[in-house]
Amino acid sequence: MNSTENKFSNRRTFILAAIGAAVGLGNIWKFPYIVGEHGGGAFILIYLGAILVTGIPIFMAELYIGKRERTDVVSAFPKKSAWFGIGPFSVISTILVLGIYSVIGGWVLDFEFQSIMGEFSPSNPDLEIIPPQDGGLGKQILWTGLFYILCIAICIGGVQKGIERASKILIPVLILLILVLAVRSLFMPGVGEATDFLFLPDFSQLTREAIVEAIGHAFFTLSVGFGAILTYGSYLPQGSQPLPRMAITVAVADTFIAMLMGFIIFAIGYSHTGFEPAAGPALLFETLPNLFGETAAGYFLSIAFFTLVAFAALTSAISMLEIVIAVVQKYSGLNRLWTTLICGTFMFGASALVIAYYEETFDFVDDFTSNYMLPAGGIFMSLYVGWRLGPAAVKDIVGDKHPGLSSGLLWILRLVAPIAVAGVVLNGVI
Ligand code: PHE
Repeated sequence: MNSTENKFSNRRTFILAAIGAAVGLGNIWKFPYIVGEHGGGAFILIYLGAILVTGIPIFMAELYIGKRERTDVVSAFPKKSAWFGIGPFSVISTILVLGIYSVIGGWVLDFEFQSIMGEFSPSNPDLEIIPPQDGGLGKQILWTGLFYILCIAICIGGVQKGIERASKILIPVLILLILVLAVRSLFMPGVGEATDFLFLPDFSQLTREAIVEAIGHAFFTLSVGFGAILTYGSYLPQGSQPLPRMAITVAVADTFIAMLMGFIIFAIGYSHTGFEPAAGPALLFETLPNLFGETAAGYFLSIAFFTLVAFAALTSAISMLEIVIAVVQKYSGLNRLWTTLICGTFMFGASALVIAYYEETFDFVDDFTSNYMLPAGGIFMSLYVGWRLGPAAVKDIVGDKHPGLSSGLLWILRLVAPIAVAGVVLNGVI
């Protein structure tokens, strides 16, 4: 596990990979539509608060556990204690989330292919968009299978030759595509309405459900509460690392990209009459492709858009697959190649079940994992570092120079974050 192969080359490549894990369908697919459903700016404020008070501290805690233990999410917690349960719990969350995530990854590849074929271009007179979940079982299984083949191809290479290399290529291209689309959106007539919608808070829309969703999403978008950050943290090179700075860099990049995506999507949306911002998941797979069909240069826009979504989905999915690979490799003793093939095939089977039983599984698993399991995973990790590893660990995270910060973080991890998250989640249940 600890060979140089299984380490990031340096802090910078770790940050790229962590941004890759964080920036995903959550930023592009989910964030814009939950903002749309919950009334815009007021929701964003709650979300930013959740990132600050719970997301970033727990990100640091998770990263710290990985860096300290240098092992997979199951072996990282002490055996024969209740804390041990955190590992298997994280693996179950990961399998559930990756199971549905890759189905959407398959839809994205399908839509990317359709873009390249000119389906969503203004020159296609008979544009007819079939919602991806109605696209037929065989077709969805095929695209999801292809998505897994890409994930497996990356993960087989291990940390440096797989995850790191892929992140070094995919993340810069992804950021470039986002910037190009953002600049293009600035010149669309819907810019004013889009910024009003995104940034003007409407507190009347802040329901309890919206608050639960904002906190759940803060976890999901930063990839905390799963073990992904822990697993990547276990591959950090030796030496002292300013963990807070890494966590803040990833959180800022992730939030910035989510905002830009929201801006791009709503700017395109509001440039057309009859745009429905609360269209839900259909925003990405129905509304937008339709709008590309009515926009000048829609052909290129649609290709750029779905390419960036595919890259974002891929770099996140590999971080989830890596959690499972690290655990299975540790406990089976198999080599990287076989472990990756076995885990990838198993996960493909799980996703095929989701496709086959879409109505019964998809929304339920999505809600249950991001609104309950991930916050619970995050609370466990927070409590573990705050109480079990205690003040010495927190001092290790923050460094000696900032005693005030260190006791602040200790109490955030011990009490503030767990109570805030648990309170809100329970509030949603009761
Ligand atoms: N953060 C990713 C997103 O926003 C999802 C993810 C969760 C990835 C957990 C890895 C681990 O899409």
